[in-house]
Amino acid sequence: TQAPVNVTVTGAAGQIGYALLFRIASGQLLGPDTPVKLRLLEIPQAVKAAEGTAMELDDGAFPQLAGIDIFDDPKQAFSGTNIALLVGARPRTKGMERGDLLEANGGIFKPQGEAINAGAADDIRVLVVGNPANTNALIAKSHAPDVPADRFTAMTRLDHNRALAQLSKKLDVPVSEIKRLAIWGNHSATQYPMITHGTVGGKNLAEAVNDQKWVEETFIPTVAKRGAAIIEARGLSSAASAASAAIDHVYTWVNGTAEGDWTSAAVISDGSYGVPEGLISSFPVTAKDGKYEIVQGLEIDDFSRTRIDATVGELAEERDAVQKLGLI
Ligand code: NAI
Repeated sequence: TQAPVNVTVTGAAGQIGYALLFRIASGQLLGPDTPVKLRLLEIPQAVKAAEGTAMELDDGAFPQLAGIDIFDDPKQAFSGTNIALLVGARPRTKGMERGDLLEANGGIFKPQGEAINAGAADDIRVLVVGNPANTNALIAKSHAPDVPADRFTAMTRLDHNRALAQLSKKLDVPVSEIKRLAIWGNHSATQYPMITHGTVGGKNLAEAVNDQKWVEETFIPTVAKRGAAIIEARGLSSAASAASAAIDHVYTWVNGTAEGDWTSAAVISDGSYGVPEGLISSFPVTAKDGKYEIVQGLEIDDFSRTRIDATVGELAEERDAVQKLGLI
């Protein structure tokens, strides 16, 4: 039998953790044939709650779950790990300025990057879910100089899935028929969900929609503000859908995209499409042989250009802010 894959989950006692851990334990992160060892990282005050979740994981009697360890020290939690899901982050609280938020998260993602650099397995893959996800990934990456930069990613798959769902409803087609959608830029309200190069049932997606007013005034804002709409309705931020997207992100990374299709992930920019090199930006990506690659050669129309420039501009501002704070 295959040796277990070590998966570290931070923020394991939080709401996304609660939804995510059971999906991992049931074999959905890597596939049903791969046993998984969970390494949970929490802050000391939340270790007891993580132990409670671990008791429930035991009670699931999952055949794929090869063990659970709980830590409050990143060095131990990331030791020997193959996949790291960085979910725990410092949320913005009332009256908090962006600089305070970035600084607080720097205090989390810098030591985690260092711990990954020091002790993770050679094939380490990192997905940052905790917000501000792109910039948190940038901070972690910059403290892990020995890890290839393309192993640090941030999650925009939830935005991608939200866009698929909206288009599926608009066109009354199953989500599985919609291909080549792309989220660009930051996982924030500035993100740009692009349908220009999409297809539905083999036809061009933008032509099938044929409603630019709906795209600009309904589709883009609905996708970009979906997180706020969920909070408004549920009284809590999206958790199960975020966990589901994290599963999708890693599963695709490891198992690949279907021929001719792509997905969205925030990955390190190589300067493609004018996105400054080194930013962790969402792009249309394919996955093959365990690597995400930016889809090349797409023609970018003027409307898309303006939207991409705006969201990438926000990422560059966040990078400059964390640089000033000495976090990268
Ligand atoms: P939560 O507040 O329920 O849980 C966060 C957990 O992280 C808590 O248990 C906390 O103790 C833990 N934590 C804090 N600092 C930590 C550290 N240094 N090391 C380890 N654990 C630590 O939050 P929830 O709902 O689970 O969300 C987690 C994050 O995911 C938030 O930042 C949220 O904004 C983000 N998010 C991102 C999405 C995306 O699409 N990229 C979608 C939804 C949420």
